[in-house]
This record gives sequence, structure tokens and C-alpha cells, in this order.
Amino acid sequence: MNKQTIRDVEWAGKRALVRVDFNVPQDDAGNVTDDTRIRAALPSIRYLLEHGANGVVLMSHLGRPKGKANPKYSMRPVVERLFELLPEAREVRKTEAITGPAAEAAATALGPGMVLMLENTRFDPREEANDPAMAAELARLGDVFVNDAFGAAHRANASTEGVAHFLPAVAGFLMEKELEFIGGALERPKRPFVTIIGGAKISDKIGVIDNLLGKVDALLIGGGMANTFLLAEGRQLGDSLVEPDSVGVAAELIAKARTANVRLLLPSDTVIADAFSADAARQTVAVDAVPTGWRVLDIGPRTVQAYRDEIARAQLLIWNGPMGVFELEPFAAGTRAIAEAMAEAGARGATTIVGGGDSVAAVEQAGLADRMSHVSTGGGASLELLEGKTLPGVAALLDR
Ligand code: 3PG
Repeated sequence: MNKQTIRDVEWAGKRALVRVDFNVPQDDAGNVTDDTRIRAALPSIRYLLEHGANGVVLMSHLGRPKGKANPKYSMRPVVERLFELLPEAREVRKTEAITGPAAEAAATALGPGMVLMLENTRFDPREEANDPAMAAELARLGDVFVNDAFGAAHRANASTEGVAHFLPAVAGFLMEKELEFIGGALERPKRPFVTIIGGAKISDKIGVIDNLLGKVDALLIGGGMANTFLLAEGRQLGDSLVEPDSVGVAAELIAKARTANVRLLLPSDTVIADAFSADAARQTVAVDAVPTGWRVLDIGPRTVQAYRDEIARAQLLIWNGPMGVFELEPFAAGTRAIAEAMAEAGARGATTIVGGGDSVAAVEQAGLADRMSHVSTGGGASLELLEGKTLPGVAALLDR
């Protein structure tokens, strides 16, 4: 990583302004249901506390409140969880303010060992507009800006990108780790390098596949998006989800894989159902035998075996997107098999990286998250990295 990090700053006496991604899932009562992103930010916060920072000011968005204050998206439950997770902090405070005199007073009142969480940055409409005035106001809250919000680094917002133009700006540990794992894998891949790409829609992943075809040895396709590739090969898919507008692109990607000498594997068999529901009738068929009234909801056992064989040979694996409708147990086997094969590959020394919301949920559901080399905290951000795009929140940091 060619950016300065939190280690490059002499923190004693300096107040840290830290962007974190505390955009966490909550239940209807507002309780945090998954605190992975909060835990992932702790190493940076602890480092700042231990290295004498004169207070740590945290800022994050939560949900999409569209520029208006909304109690449903308050940072309060998040701060409560942070308080539980950070017993070594002398105090964890919260302010209702984001910028302005109240926020400045709260920030100035901090001392060593103290943490302050600002209110949801997206309550201010200037955040997503990346308004320089808001960025300048945020910058008054700290001496050095630390961006540890990898999950939001693809958003050019006032608290992710804008503020970096008003303060010395460095990467936090989570940001560094995500960039080293995903960016490092793409720049200096161990071989064989195999990626597994799934998810419902091919249109979301065209950029990713296109970029990966120039780098990988094999690309294994599953999920609803595989249907459009199969359609491009002239298969009959019954009532399966397909994207007719993307058939041409799918054909081009198949041709590009051939030219690039990349093994592009598509499902040879599938699990089909007569309705989109857990209690639908189901059967396993070859990909060209999906009758009308039936739809593909998972990859079949022959495909699983072929994909397992590829994964077993790989030294570097990146997985993004489930193989089927894994939220419904009868159609979870293909996705679970990939998670297991990745865990086995990791056990024999391969690097295994899982990026993107749904595949992360799948490895967690399978109880295998801690057997992966890296499970990304970024959904959209990790996809944009895989597409080869520059993340604005990273580009704005100081070069090494
Ligand atoms: C995420 O959850 O992917 C990030 O926090 C970004 O959230 P957003 O998609 O609402 O910008």
C-alpha cells in the first residue's frame, strides 16, 4: 500500500478525527445485530488511545437517511455497543452534533483516553454532496484525519474524501489490511489464482469479471448471473431469472476468457424448483433440461465437484457472491460447498479472500468466517476494487 498510515503519525498531543464504517445491521428495536464492522475498527482506535492521542473523534454514516435527521438512524445504539467493546477507553461519549460549535466544544473537551462519536454524517445533506464547507467544518474537529472506513471508501463524501483535503490524512489499520489483501492479491497474485463469482445479476458484476479476466487462471460462475451466461450458450432455462439485455455482454466475456486463456467454468447441472420458496418441489437437472415453470435456484452436485477441484488446486482464491438462493436452506448446498472448499484450501496454505455482503453472510452462516485469510468488511467497496477502480476515500490520503 503506497499510502501513509496511522503508524506514520506522532500522536502525542494530537486529536484524531477518524472516519469509520459503522453502517451496521440493526433489528426493528434498533439493536445492533452484527457488530463485525465495529470490532474491525477497534485496532485503530486502541492504537490511538495507546499512543497518546489527545482524544479520538469518530464519524460514520448509518443507513440512508437522505440528508435529514431521523432517530431510526441515530448512532446511539452503535455507541452503546462501542462502549461495551472498548473497556480500556477512559470515556466514550456521543454528541447529537456533526459539525458546528456544539461538535467543536465536544471535541475540544476530549483528553487522552477519551472517545467521542459524532451523530450520523448523513443527517447533513452536505455529506453525500461532498460539500467542501462541511469537510472544512469536520476538519476543525481534529488535527489529523484517519480513514478507516474501507466499506465507505468508494463514496466520495465530505467525511470520507472531502475532509482529507483539509487535514493531514492517513489510512487506519482496517483500511490498510483490506487494501493489502484485496489490492495485493490483484497486483501480485499467487498462482493458480481462482475467483468464484456469483450473485443474482450479471449486470452488477460485468466490470468485475472483465477486470479479473486479465488476471486470473480460472473463473467459476454461479448464482442467478450464471443463467445469462448459459443463455448466451443457447441453453433453455425455463422460468429462471435471466437478463436478456446482458446476453451479448456474457457472450463477449466468454470470448474474452478464451482469448485470455482463462478457464471460465459455468454450471453443468443445477437445482431447480417450481416456485421461489423453501417448500417448492425441486430436482437436479442438467443445465439444458430446465422445463417451463421451473427455475434455477442453486448449482448442482456435478458443478460443485468441478468447482471444488479447481479450488483444491488454487493458491489464491477470491470469492464474491453466492452460488444460489442460500437464504433458503434447500438451495444453500452449493454456496456452503464453496465455503467449505475455501476453508480446506486455506488449511493447506492457500490465501482465501471473501468480499461482498452476501458471500460474507454465507461464510458466517456456515460458521467458516474465521477459517478464511480475509473476510472483507466492504460490499460495494470491495467490488469496486475488484473492478480495478480507484477508491476516492483512498486516493485522497497522503502518499507514502
Ligand atoms: C456499505 O454498507 O456498503 C457501506 O457502508 C456504504 O453504504 P452505502 O451503500 O449506503 O453508501
